[in-house]
Amino acid sequence: SKGNHRHYMLKEIYEQPVVVAQTLRSYLRRMEDQVSLPVPDFDLGTIRRVTIVACGTSYYAGMVAKYWFEQLARVPADVDVASEFRYRAPVMEDGGLMIVISQSGETADTLAALRHARSEGQKIAAVVNVPTSTMAREADLLLPTHAGPEIGVASTKAFTCQLAVLAAFAANLARAKGRLDAKAEKELVRHLAEAPAALNAALAYDESIEAMAHLIAVARDVLYLGRGPDYPLALEGALKLKEISYIHAEGYAAGEMKHGPIALIDDKVPVIVLAPSGPLFEKTVSNMQEVQARGGKVVLISDYDGVQAAGEGCIATITMPKVHPLIAPMVYAVPVQLLAYHVAVAKGTDVDQPRNLAKSVTVE
Ligand code: F6R
Repeated sequence: SKGNHRHYMLKEIYEQPVVVAQTLRSYLRRMEDQVSLPVPDFDLGTIRRVTIVACGTSYYAGMVAKYWFEQLARVPADVDVASEFRYRAPVMEDGGLMIVISQSGETADTLAALRHARSEGQKIAAVVNVPTSTMAREADLLLPTHAGPEIGVASTKAFTCQLAVLAAFAANLARAKGRLDAKAEKELVRHLAEAPAALNAALAYDESIEAMAHLIAVARDVLYLGRGPDYPLALEGALKLKEISYIHAEGYAAGEMKHGPIALIDDKVPVIVLAPSGPLFEKTVSNMQEVQARGGKVVLISDYDGVQAAGEGCIATITMPKVHPLIAPMVYAVPVQLLAYHVAVAKGTDVDQPRNLAKSVTVE
């Protein structure tokens, strides 16, 4: 049931601190400050390349995970949308691991990619939310998300749980490759374990996000900008807004603005900037200022320090808790979900059953 919530989507957004904690509990051994994953019947240390394949929101989780596999484990990682992967004769060498990511575990294109990779001798790991699904059954290594049933068509809690699993798995692979010593692992586990509380803190901004939704609800087009692991979040924010409010939205890597999209900027196109303070902050802010210099209306999503440093001149700011960069993509999922939700409610659309969309896409 929806409980006290008006829509399943809102209920599921609010469940995130609990379901992410639930998911992390099965992947972290807090007492020993270690990640703890199911042991596959192949040696993780022999994995030389990771290929991540998924669709939609699950694909964006894969884009975030690419940073982790490369940064933590130093294993080359490719990410592809499943419908593209299958038809481009991808090179799959020995020592390759395919990771499929899917809430339902039934998405036709992702399943077909899994089967293709298996026939080419790849090991298969599946990050799925339905443990009895076809992908779960066909994988060599099952990495379940424990998000519970997701009813709203727009994916929310499955996404943050996918990120939790993928971060733990990247750490596990890093350890297997001899790239993560006990001290670094301990730090990483501590940061991951902070995610549920940080998600909770992010939810506290719900009312202020609701209060500014009207600024976005009147727009015909909206842009989202992010850098590094927050670039996929920009794509996710744009997808959520399109899906449930039917407002045209695009996500861009912040540095790409000046290579084309900045031509769209005028005072009618709100630009949502995702910029946690940290090593990439200054660069993203300078892209944001280029937008403002052309009359663009910016909504800055950052932490207290970031909003203090760059919030002036924005039409609105949303202040997130200050978190370690590892968990920022999880935490910043919350404001983009809530913003899409409140804009959709303001427009009066059917949030849980958007037009033309199905929860599980079992045709190619
Ligand atoms: C977006 C959304 C879709 C799914 C996509 C993949 O809100 O829900 O983009 O993420 O259809 O579905 P799964 O994860 O079940 O493979």
